[in-house]
Formats: sequence, structure tokens, C-alpha cells
Amino acid sequence: MSQKKRLAVFASGTGTNFEAIAAACEAGKIPAEVALLVCDKPAAAVVGRAARHGVKTFAFQPKDYPTKVDMESAIADLLDENGIDLVCLAGYMRIIADTLLSRYGGRIINIHPSLLPAFPGARAVEQAMDYGVKVYGVTVHYVDRTVDGGRIIAQQAFPYEGHDLDELLGFVHAVEHELYPATIARLLVGE
Ligand code: GRF
Repeated sequence: MSQKKRLAVFASGTGTNFEAIAAACEAGKIPAEVALLVCDKPAAAVVGRAARHGVKTFAFQPKDYPTKVDMESAIADLLDENGIDLVCLAGYMRIIADTLLSRYGGRIINIHPSLLPAFPGARAVEQAMDYGVKVYGVTVHYVDRTVDGGRIIAQQAFPYEGHDLDELLGFVHAVEHELYPATIARLLVGE
């Protein structure tokens, strides 16, 4: 029987972080497999990436559930059925609420494109650039009832003094694609 841990990735969009995590698992850099993609936007590019990696996908429309409690209960049941050890949010554009936290609290992590606690919430990189910061960064943190406020696991900073948002977003993604898989690997081996 496989000893590998089982990851679920939750994503809503392009899925470059999903790709980095899946590739790191396949390369043996993370001692786990991506067992499930949970996606609230069935047309998102990340769904195609999951198919190419042979990852089972649960793509749903939130409006198909009468309440958020119903939606999160269905997701938590699916995590149970798939024996998920760790949930990695990677551009999942929904707030995780009590139903999922009560069942998977402490086993859900997120990556955020700022040096938290600075610039939580949406458009963090744009906010930081508007503010004129000179050192940007990326944070991996546990998910709790706050928005991007859970305990920090890892951070990586880098200097940038330009004004080109696309260039900066490219740097942010490059840092994310290293930091997130490395942090997941460290967590799974208990460091
Ligand atoms: C990343 O910048 C991540 O930090 C944020 O959402 C973005 C997702 O990008 N939470 P991608 O879909 O993984 O390319």
C-alpha cells in the first residue's frame, strides 16, 4: 500500500500553483500525490491542468447548493472519502467557513502574494505597488476564521522598485512556485 500523503488543491483560476505542486509531487520533491482538485469555476484553466496530470476533479457551481453550509459539507465529505491529509488553497477565491474549518481546521493552508499581515485580501500585489513598497513577498499560512490572518508557516521576500505590474506579478509567481511546494514538503515530513 502506498505511504504517500494525499493532497487536495482548491483553486478557482489559472492554476499555475496547482501545476507547481503537481509537478513537485511527480518529481518526488513532495512526498505526496495530488489526489483531488476542488474548483468552484468549472470553466477555469486549472481544470484542464488537472486532467493533464490525471488528477481527479470536483468542479462545482456554488449556486447549485442552497447554503454555504451545504456546499462545504459536500466538500468535506469528499475530502473524507478521498482520504485527504492536507488541503492547499491555491487561488481559491472563496472564504473557508466554519463547516470546513470544524472538520479540517489545522489541515488547510493557503498561499498569499504579500508579506502578511500586510495587504491581506484581494489584489494584494496591486495594493502593495500602489502603496509604493520596495520589498515584496509571498506568505504560506494556515487558514482560520480570519481573511489571510492565520498563523504564518513560511515567507519569502524580494526587492522590487520598478513600476511594471505584469513584471512584478511574474516575479511573485516564480517565488510562489518554489516556496509553496517546498513548504508543503516540509510540513509533510514534520519540520
Ligand atoms: C496566486 O498569486 C496566489 O498567491 C493567490 O492567487 C494566485 C493564484 O494564481 N492566492 P494561480 O492560479 O496559481 O496561477
